[in-house]
Amino acid sequence: MSVDWSGLYAQRLGRMETSAIREILKVAQSPDIIPFAGGWPEAELFPLEQISMICDEVLSERPREALQYGLTDGLPLLREAIAGYMTARGMAARAENIVIVSGSQQSLDLVGRLFIDEGDTVLVESPTFLGAAQAFNAYGPRYVTAPMDEQGPCVGAIEDLLAHHRCKFMYLMPTFHNPTGVTTTLARRQQVVALAREAGVPILEDDPYGQLRYTGETLPTLAAIDIAAQEGDPERANVIYAGTFSKTLAPGLRLAWVVCPSELAEQLVMAKQGADLHSNTLSQMIAYEFLRRDWLDDQVERIRSTYSARCDAMCEAIKAHFPPEARYVRPEGGLFLWVTLPEGLDTAAMLADAAAHKVAFVPGAPFFVEGGGQNSFRMTFASVPADTIRRGIRILGDVIRDHLARL
Ligand SMILES: Cc1ncc(COP(=O)(O)O)c(C=O)c1O
Repeated sequence: MSVDWSGLYAQRLGRMETSAIREILKVAQSPDIIPFAGGWPEAELFPLEQISMICDEVLSERPREALQYGLTDGLPLLREAIAGYMTARGMAARAENIVIVSGSQQSLDLVGRLFIDEGDTVLVESPTFLGAAQAFNAYGPRYVTAPMDEQGPCVGAIEDLLAHHRCKFMYLMPTFHNPTGVTTTLARRQQVVALAREAGVPILEDDPYGQLRYTGETLPTLAAIDIAAQEGDPERANVIYAGTFSKTLAPGLRLAWVVCPSELAEQLVMAKQGADLHSNTLSQMIAYEFLRRDWLDDQVERIRSTYSARCDAMCEAIKAHFPPEARYVRPEGGLFLWVTLPEGLDTAAMLADAAAHKVAFVPGAPFFVEGGGQNSFRMTFASVPADTIRRGIRILGDVIRDHLARL
């Protein structure tokens, strides 16, 4: 008798839908498609020579350490180096406040695991990062959502939601938001941090793109604002900060970190132990050497200059080729640009036409956990050369006009 798998799956499986993005990426991965869809960094910018040099050194000098099991909370030297890196950026931390994880995606999963019982409420922005909803959904939360505008999440809505729901935590992405590219203003950051503290609700601040700023002034993270209000004491933090090496070094390293009070760090370590014992030791050594040798900032600078030029190319091309009904916010950094079309247009249907003309983007609807957003879509400029960006935007402009004419 063969096994009836479908009769054995846990109930949570029903809540774990395949990511719409991943499905779309399957279409977008065909080599002749202009890939505005994915969120992948430009592979040409990976610091290959430096990584290769570090690997050679580590594997000849400390091979057994590099290939052995490691501590669940991470390589002590790396935790210390990240604590220094965070402290220098206004987020006072000690090594015991740092947990090394296997990508920020794991930070999202571990926080979900620690805080969400089935039916618990989580406050998210609308739209929000699809991968976060995917991570949290396994634990069966209910969502309440604060709408985003050009200045970030609506503070009035957050205040209202906190007053009427017992939220376990808020998941926010104040800097170069995925998918909208929006950066939350300083005033809103301060208000949100204060509201969360008053309500006793922690914030999970997801910050994979914070270092990738192309224009405008660097703003303090929510974690920095919160810690400053606690006289720089990381043990009194109300913000759990998630950073990653995916967009600065390389996502295949699967290496990221969480900054939080040490009591919570211990719980995260327990949860992580059950998931994967520890993150890749060789990747941790590579990241440590980048920090120790002060190479990370130069690497970030290289990435910024390429992405910044591509962001400009996309914005200029949109101005030239999209109809005026297409609205967008020029991103100050990050990887994404978000377009909103008139109500009634369906960007999922538009994708089929765009793909037929060899251009892919991500339709907006999957980013809205409570529904809506059919008339919006997300594009990335990071992994597409400027000439190809111009060509793709011209084609997309024609597809949008065509759909507008049919409205
Ligand atoms: C907002 C956001 N959070 C988390 C992640 C996951 O990143 P990582 O590669 O560090 O797991 C991504 C990846 O694109 C992202 O956009």
